[in-house]
Amino acid sequence: MTHSVPVAKKRADYQPADFEIEHVKLAFYLDETRTKVRAISTISRRVKHANTLVLDGVDLTLLSLNIDGEPYHDYLQTDAGLQINIDADNFELCIDTQINPEQNSSLEGLYKSAGTYCTQCEAEGFRKITYFLDRPDNLATYDVYIEAEQAAFPYLLSNGNPTGQGELENGKHWVSWSDPYKKPSYLFALVAGDFDLLEDSFSTLSGREVKLQLFVDKGNAAKGEHALASLKKAMAWDEQVYGLEYDLDIYMVVAVDFFNMGAMENKGLNVFNSKFVLADDLSATDEDYFNIESVIAHEYFHNWTGNRVTCRDWFQLSLKEGLTVFRDQQFSSDMASAAINRINNVKVIREHQFAEDASPMSHPIRPDEVMEMNNFYTVTVYNKGAEVISMLHKMLGQTGFRAGMDLYFERHDGQAVTCDDFVNAMADANQKNLNLFKRWYAQSGTPEVFADYLFDEQNQILTLSVKQVNAPTADQSYKQALSIPLDIEVLDSTGTPLPLFSGQQTSAVLTLEQQQQSWSFHCANQPAALCLLRDFSAPVKLHLSQTDEQLKLIMLNASDAFSRFDAWHQLLNRYINQTLESEHPQQGLPQKALCSIKNVLAEVLNDDKIDLALKAEMLCVPSFETMAQLNSQIDVEALLAIKQGLEHFLATELVESWFYHYQNNQTAAYEYNQQQVAKRRMHNVCLNYLLIADAAKYAEQAKQQYLSADNMSDTLGVLKACQDNHVALFDELMADFEQRWQHDALVMDKWFALQAGAFRSDILSRIELLKEHSGFSLRNPNRTRALIGTFAFYNTQAMHHIDGSGYKWLTEQLILLDKINPQVAARIVTPMLQFKRYDAIRQPLIKHQLMRLANQPDLSTDLYEKVSKALN
Ligand code: PHE
Ligand code: ZN
Repeated sequence: MTHSVPVAKKRADYQPADFEIEHVKLAFYLDETRTKVRAISTISRRVKHANTLVLDGVDLTLLSLNIDGEPYHDYLQTDAGLQINIDADNFELCIDTQINPEQNSSLEGLYKSAGTYCTQCEAEGFRKITYFLDRPDNLATYDVYIEAEQAAFPYLLSNGNPTGQGELENGKHWVSWSDPYKKPSYLFALVAGDFDLLEDSFSTLSGREVKLQLFVDKGNAAKGEHALASLKKAMAWDEQVYGLEYDLDIYMVVAVDFFNMGAMENKGLNVFNSKFVLADDLSATDEDYFNIESVIAHEYFHNWTGNRVTCRDWFQLSLKEGLTVFRDQQFSSDMASAAINRINNVKVIREHQFAEDASPMSHPIRPDEVMEMNNFYTVTVYNKGAEVISMLHKMLGQTGFRAGMDLYFERHDGQAVTCDDFVNAMADANQKNLNLFKRWYAQSGTPEVFADYLFDEQNQILTLSVKQVNAPTADQSYKQALSIPLDIEVLDSTGTPLPLFSGQQTSAVLTLEQQQQSWSFHCANQPAALCLLRDFSAPVKLHLSQTDEQLKLIMLNASDAFSRFDAWHQLLNRYINQTLESEHPQQGLPQKALCSIKNVLAEVLNDDKIDLALKAEMLCVPSFETMAQLNSQIDVEALLAIKQGLEHFLATELVESWFYHYQNNQTAAYEYNQQQVAKRRMHNVCLNYLLIADAAKYAEQAKQQYLSADNMSDTLGVLKACQDNHVALFDELMADFEQRWQHDALVMDKWFALQAGAFRSDILSRIELLKEHSGFSLRNPNRTRALIGTFAFYNTQAMHHIDGSGYKWLTEQLILLDKINPQVAARIVTPMLQFKRYDAIRQPLIKHQLMRLANQPDLSTDLYEKVSKALN
């Protein structure tokens, strides 16, 4: 953790290791502060005459080292591990180390989560367990022996299949496991604890029975049902859609409270943040149910895309993550509302990924330089990575894409490979040249696409001209043209899609491959409006100027839900841009703009043909983060004024409609199904507008909803609606909520987040008090993200307060947090990294705090990498 200025590793410097560990026997003697680990590795030399075996190891106490059964002393201990001088082709290395799980607050390696021992080895955590070739291209088989006290740790789990168990003296017992599949060290896992166990089974396509086991904290068994049902859906889906079957006899999922990320795909033994496992009607929202299904599926899908075929090196992370996110998104679209799912995926790209591209941390989906790997589990690698896969899917179609997947597994099962290997399989299976497409892996930044069209009425020819601009980013100044699929549809004046290319087809995918390109094709009639980026066919910013009338036509008629949603944002964005360029942007949108926006939304509101879920979505004013993507500079006051002014205008002007639709979208007894989800969303969107319109008048209504809610979505709907609109009611209900839920940490996270997101003049002293709350701990990432993360990312007014108090407070928290858990600290610093996008007053305030961080002694590599890039 100490840095004598850490140096970046480069993708171009990849070298295979000189030696290979083919098999390892691990024995764990678990103890709170003095766990002993014995690792017996079977090693072979791969490079002739190589005579130094370099092993990774961090925070380890070396107890002994033997080679082929004899004590061995010819080695050097360094900060990063061991250098063993050895001249042999095959040998057995036995290393004993001691580690301290209790003191491990980084949550990497072996640590204790409440009473449970668990491990987290991705990306480079295995080196905190023993000295090893801790790199994903070393594939080995593992035998594991675990010993611990029987009473406190009745379950001792690891990867693969159980091979034995027994009792020992002193109340101890042991269990052994063997994983027949070769795997990299990052997929190793061990769990020891006491749990409630949910069991089920799944019979695979070829008729094998797989035992499913879900381990949750005692007393939480009922909350695991949804996760277990989701797992079975995911297993069936992967068989149906990709022909992929599970390969071991047992699949285990363990939920833990202390976890840095969402979940981890360890072979046969997933470890989950309990947030993505536990749910019941009263404590979980519709969104929680959705997320659990999707994360359970994501980790399951990794068994093929990640575990059976893994990454050669960490620069290739998107090989498994982009692809697996794409697969879980496909799955979610099949399980829930495809339209809303797609829109939400696009929001992540626009709000967070575009921001990352515009920040000092900008990187391609396959980064070229990494200082701290943990900093590259990003929206770029994951979500833009998934968009890149999605473009391939669009260009090849499901059949062609499936053929590519089949070939990928045929060629690479059991290997550690690169992103190029993946694209090559796609290319070869479809006899297509995808060399140009590969630039998406190498180039960072958000392409801007400018489009224009002309219609030759006489000959019925539509000519579309498109150009792409790829501006320099923090990490790359030189950019090339990318291959950009544009999925188009043309509407006539009645909103009906027009046949194109003289056939019957009404949509087509055109691929822009040059800086500038145009297409001329038959179009059956005068076009009234164009959808050019249907289904968000590429992760770009599109500029096509269309009138309000044209955008309205798309909003009400396009066949594609994303296009409808996007037309609404485009319409609004034009007004926002005009206002930002005007003399007094801080006065918000002018009356005329407000009226025309209201008129359009009134039509949406009263349109009975629109899918309810989509309607509710389109009635929401875009988030601050979305609006901030419109320009390179962020005018905090203007954007807040625009957003709040618009919400207030819509709320008051349409108040009767909100009330009518509020009443008309009551749901019966809670069920998690799409009709109910849409109704609840609409219901709560209306409630929010009602409280904005007249908080005093609708307070009673809100309170009634709170008191009678039989589910967490409706409960939270009330709290969010009062948060900034009715402080007294908010405080009253929050006090009640705390009483009701103080026993449930995951629900209390919602409470902490609501507190941290509220704008109040005394917010900082309130948060300081909350840090002392008995349910809060900086050592727990979920709590920290709920309180401190919500403040930093979403409490725009307080975080970006012009007096700089938000920046100062956040920095103080980061200094404390960095000592405990650098990974989490490095995520929460994100909003300060883009300081150059703020005004002349805020810039130096943020910069000052970043410099304060940079000057901390013993700053983690995680924070150092980000802060130094920002200050560069
Ligand atoms: N590989 C995990 C996933 O995507 C994420 C993860 C990364 C978890 C690193 C922990 C540590 O599912
Ligand atoms: Zn993943």
